[in-house]
Amino acid sequence: MTRHGARRIVGLRAATREELVLAADPSLTERTRRAQASAALARARDAVLERAAAVLPADEVDALAARLDRYGRDAALPLAWLYGDRDDFEALLARLLRTVVDAAGERPHALRRLDRRREIDPEWFLRESMVGYVCYADRFAGDLPGVRSRLDYLEELGVRYLHLMPLLAARAGEDDGGYAVVDFDRVDPRLGTNADLEELATELHERDMALCVDLVVNHTAAEHTWAERAKAGDPFYQAFYLTYPDRSLPDAYERTVPETFPDTAPGNFTWSAELSSWVWTTFYPFQWDLDHSNPEVFAALLEVMLRTANRGVDVLRLDAVRCLWKRLGTTCENLPEAHWLLQAWRGLTRIATPGVVFKAEAIVGPDQLVQYLGAHDREHPECELAYHNQLMVMSWSAVASRDARLPTVALDRLADPPRGTGWVTYVRCHDDIGWAVDDADAATVGVNGFAHRRFLAEFYAGQIPGSFARGAIYQDDPRTGDARTSGMAAALAGLTEARATGDPLLLDQAVRRLLLLHAIAYGWGGLPLLWMGDEIAMGNDDDWTLDPAAGDDNRWMHRPHMDWQAAQRRHHPGSVEQRVFAGIAALADARRRTPELHAIGPTRPVWTDNHRVLAWRRDHPRFGTLLGLANVHDADQSVDAEILGVVRAWDPVDVLDDDRPVPVDAGRIPLPRLSVRWVVAP
Ligand code: GLC
Repeated sequence: MTRHGARRIVGLRAATREELVLAADPSLTERTRRAQASAALARARDAVLERAAAVLPADEVDALAARLDRYGRDAALPLAWLYGDRDDFEALLARLLRTVVDAAGERPHALRRLDRRREIDPEWFLRESMVGYVCYADRFAGDLPGVRSRLDYLEELGVRYLHLMPLLAARAGEDDGGYAVVDFDRVDPRLGTNADLEELATELHERDMALCVDLVVNHTAAEHTWAERAKAGDPFYQAFYLTYPDRSLPDAYERTVPETFPDTAPGNFTWSAELSSWVWTTFYPFQWDLDHSNPEVFAALLEVMLRTANRGVDVLRLDAVRCLWKRLGTTCENLPEAHWLLQAWRGLTRIATPGVVFKAEAIVGPDQLVQYLGAHDREHPECELAYHNQLMVMSWSAVASRDARLPTVALDRLADPPRGTGWVTYVRCHDDIGWAVDDADAATVGVNGFAHRRFLAEFYAGQIPGSFARGAIYQDDPRTGDARTSGMAAALAGLTEARATGDPLLLDQAVRRLLLLHAIAYGWGGLPLLWMGDEIAMGNDDDWTLDPAAGDDNRWMHRPHMDWQAAQRRHHPGSVEQRVFAGIAALADARRRTPELHAIGPTRPVWTDNHRVLAWRRDHPRFGTLLGLANVHDADQSVDAEILGVVRAWDPVDVLDDDRPVPVDAGRIPLPRLSVRWVVAP
């Protein structure tokens, strides 16, 4: 993406708004915009600091002034790109800064202290000790107080970061797992109260754990208070949504905009009788996309972010950010304006709540992914964390095909995260696995991209002879032939199948495969996330169809209720639960002893002389190098130690083998079937 000779958005709020007509305007260079942004910022500065002096002690005002100077510019430039053509741009910026100062004034003392520590260690979320756990509060422990009572369990797993799935008030009935929010300012009463959330955050902080919460910035439920006011005829809130009186524009958009749920929610528009209009609904018909070309939407969401942060949330997971901006004739994904929105929110929130970071949920192609971490034509600070979707997809590809060549090519193409940012790495999540295999990457290793994507979907649905997996197809799209995958990690890794056959060899392989996948995610470099239930190898929830709120969305098969009885078996030596739980806890423990896994610094896949081995190397500028070796095959393998060029130089040890020296047999490093080594200097 380049901003030079960039384009101007014309007639944003006027009749042509929906068309988002772009006119090339070569006079609007980055330099011009920067000048506009700086001037607006300079003119707002005195009033901002005056207001700050009224709500903050003197030393805090100094700190806020420094943050205003540093982060204000990060925000003002993208805001100028987004809204700079409006006559009221300066007033808008001044107003947004007032919002920020007020939030700084309201920030509780304990959180300000946390901010100060994090300003000293801004890479706090990238530390090697970080391990995340993700769960639905209700499915894990009933409600938020229930979650508090389970924190010891999480500590057993070495967890330092808790992501609670959507917990704000959601619509009744089908709610897309809580992603159909009716009130951004209220915890869902089924889970507890705002006070419960604040108490949980406080206790997490006391335990040196961070809290991550979802903010759905792309859409609201059709029953959200904003949507209700729009339906009641309030033009202010009607302008929050993208509405169309007839099908002409929706049809024009549909020609280029993909469908997210082709099976269960085809199309991107839904008729609203109340509004007598088609409403943009990227996801389900009950989720209305917000119109971010309206600065009032930007401002309203900024307030939501600041209030959420002030309740003690450390990481805001910003949902579906790829879709934030729409433009006719495009896919309406990953547009420059979507990035500017994130950059602007990030800059502004940093001024008030500097200890809070953004995590982008952008499940997009490898070339687009790193942009959400701020890597564009050059760096523009954006989100600090983003999901490493490619690593997840490629890990499953490797174990299905018992071949590391495609992952090596695909992962090598991915640009490194900019300094101060990192990946969240994971084996699976609450969503389906979309088989993001790039055609060009596949062709490089002589594979047909389409055929491989189809192979993976069918393999993980257990439809291919010899498949060890017992997942299901998700969103089979007859038009494109693409299909995705649902299923718990254990079911996809072979445990369900092995348990059904009772074959101890298959069972051992499945346990090893599950641990191997986690050892890749924990050792790649990034913040690894563990999904609830995977630590005890829970299988698919076969009862998901009984829940009417699940609709016909089979992602619910991998969102089970926690099986605490099975969790008890983690203490029974030799049980599957014990092996998996202990194996995953040991990975967290190994990370703590391995500063090479501090997530700063690049990770690169490495070619070895054995295509059954996925190898990677991370080079931390201060803490040194780690070499990962994963044998994705169910037979023993080895790699030439000299090819890797490390053994002679380092005399290395294997962190995952209790720091024992890496064995070398006739010049080769042996790798037992489905095993991983983390090789470091002694
Ligand atoms: C994100 C969530 C997914 C949800 C969608 C719409 O992709 O991860 O679960 O369906 O957003 O909110």
